[in-house]
Amino acid sequence: MWEEMLPLLLLALPLLASGVHAAPAPHQALERGAIVGGQEASKSKWPWQVSLRLHAAFWKHICGGSLIHPQWVLTAAHCVGRERVSPDAFRVQLREQHLYYGDRLLPVGRVLPHPGYYSAQEGADIALLGLRSPVNLSGRVQPLRLPPAAQAFPAGTPCWLTGWGDVGDDEPLPPPYPLRQVKVPVVDNGDCDAQYHSDTSTGDSVRIVRDDMMCAGRAGRDSCQGDSGGPLACKVNGTWLQAGVVSWGEGCAQDKRPGVYTRVTHYLDWIHRYVPEEP
Ligand code: ARG
Repeated sequence: MWEEMLPLLLLALPLLASGVHAAPAPHQALERGAIVGGQEASKSKWPWQVSLRLHAAFWKHICGGSLIHPQWVLTAAHCVGRERVSPDAFRVQLREQHLYYGDRLLPVGRVLPHPGYYSAQEGADIALLGLRSPVNLSGRVQPLRLPPAAQAFPAGTPCWLTGWGDVGDDEPLPPPYPLRQVKVPVVDNGDCDAQYHSDTSTGDSVRIVRDDMMCAGRAGRDSCQGDSGGPLACKVNGTWLQAGVVSWGEGCAQDKRPGVYTRVTHYLDWIHRYVPEEP
């Protein structure tokens, strides 16, 4: 019931037609409609949003991502898999209003899943994609800033999710695939962990939501399959910062099961091993 299918799909390669969608969770979300619960994004917003494409019958959208530097994209490790996969299997599409309409796919030179990644629920679900050449920044295309190491994003911080993922459990985004957005509250790690323990057999002493993760969302507002790798962006003192990377959840937009995100501040040192700090 935990959705963790992409690495398998990537490695098994006879793939994807319907595979990105995990089995429905036992209880269905009551509200639907975004990402889940939001609306179409205005054209002038989210200039860092990218679509990660994998070579199949066509260059199929498999995940979101964010431009964090003219030559680097941040995404989830489960989007690229743990094994060494050729960068040639991937392309990056910069900010597009309607997925696949007007594609200008960029080649990828490096694929770097975090070496500590094993599965999303075990953490380190973060990866870097190095573009072959730097992109030209414009009004439409701008990087999202990484947060300072001390940035905590406390519960209640207003943040936004964006993506082309499912609009409900097993409900793919219909054509013309507009980019969607939803505003979500950050949920405290302890509360989120407690919520994930409700109605499960997992012992209270076993952590489900780890320190390198954070949670956001509430019933009816969430990311979903196909949004993975995309940014959880929060506006702090007037500046947009990337707090999280869409990683996992149980179903989508369920009560007591907020979306779980890789906590970007936890991985800043690793990111900066590759990505130069911008002046
Ligand atoms: N693992 C999913 C993907 O590959 C994202 C799941 C996010 N789920 C959630 N309920 N927030 O697209």
